Amino acid sequence: MAAANAQYYATRDPLGRAGDFVTAPEISQMFGELVGLWAADLWDRAGRPDVDLVELGPGRGTLAADALRAMAKARLRPPVHLVETSPALRAAQAARVAAASWHDTVDTLPADRPLLIVANEFFDALPIRQLIRAGDGWRERLVACQDTLFLPIAGPPVPDAVIPAPLRDAAPGAVLEVSPAAVAIVRALARRLVAQGGALLVIDYGHEGPALGDTLQAVRAHRYANPYDLPGEQDLSAQVDFTTLAAAAQSEGATVWGPVEQGEWLVRLGIDARAAALARARPDRAESIAADRMRLVNADAMGRLFKMLAVAAPGWPAPAGSG
Ligand SMILES: C[S@@+](CC[C@H](N)C(=O)[O-])C[C@H]1O[C@@H](n2cnc3c(N)ncnc32)[C@H](O)[C@@H]1O
Repeated sequence: MAAANAQYYATRDPLGRAGDFVTAPEISQMFGELVGLWAADLWDRAGRPDVDLVELGPGRGTLAADALRAMAKARLRPPVHLVETSPALRAAQAARVAAASWHDTVDTLPADRPLLIVANEFFDALPIRQLIRAGDGWRERLVACQDTLFLPIAGPPVPDAVIPAPLRDAAPGAVLEVSPAAVAIVRALARRLVAQGGALLVIDYGHEGPALGDTLQAVRAHRYANPYDLPGEQDLSAQVDFTTLAAAAQSEGATVWGPVEQGEWLVRLGIDARAAALARARPDRAESIAADRMRLVNADAMGRLFKMLAVAAPGWPAPAGSG
């Protein structure tokens, strides 16, 4: 999955109606603006220190552009650091965010002052490992290749200690997903926050776990596809396990809030007032603004499956929207 997704993002801009999928910042400017206000509010209540803004996996740069506009209204104009591996998407980001610095990994982010870090649909794009309960115990799921056909197979046994105790005796066929890559990044960022100050907002689709289930999915041209077809040509993602990421941050000494469902979080941050103001300014667009708001907030759209997890340095104020 790691190589297939790196190839996929490196070679295209997959976002938007003409691409493979649409993300929240591409649905409406309200999303990025409210994330920007979240950051500005936290910065204000932390005593307005000098900070850097960091975005992980910024896509087209739409969220960053909308967030920076909202932050500037609150007099927050931080230097911007974008962690992005795709050359195609770096070019799109440069067109929307003037004067950013780019990083291949979180390791090169500035180390001297607080970081306000945002990640929308970044962690779901990171590689996962699937473990499958076979008749004789848990095994790692591997991918076999026969000519041009890729197929999941049961690989070598994994030690019991790797499986959470309540799941060890699951029925044959049960799948458990882990993402060592996601855990490593959250731990590295939590260590930074503890040392430097600041906060991280993880926004993604996912569950509180550990939970059983095969959530690896492929999307191509806005339709679900077989994840084992066309490696490098379709978007691969998997649900984020928020409980595991929260525990990883806490193990480094950071404070954690949430996760809170996206719909609830956006209402707490004021999406209704923002939608009303936009509709007053553009009465001709009132219907589409209302439809975009519903898509972001409603439980049967993105409002329940997507969640916000906030992580902050000890002693920093509670981030807005989380409690
Ligand atoms: C699903 S897109 C989300 C884009 C954007 N945040 C949005 O909401 O529109 C995933 C983003 O993460 C980037 N990405 C994926 N794996 C990455 C990695 N290992 N390191 C840095 N960026 C990565 C992709 O190139 C892309 O910008």
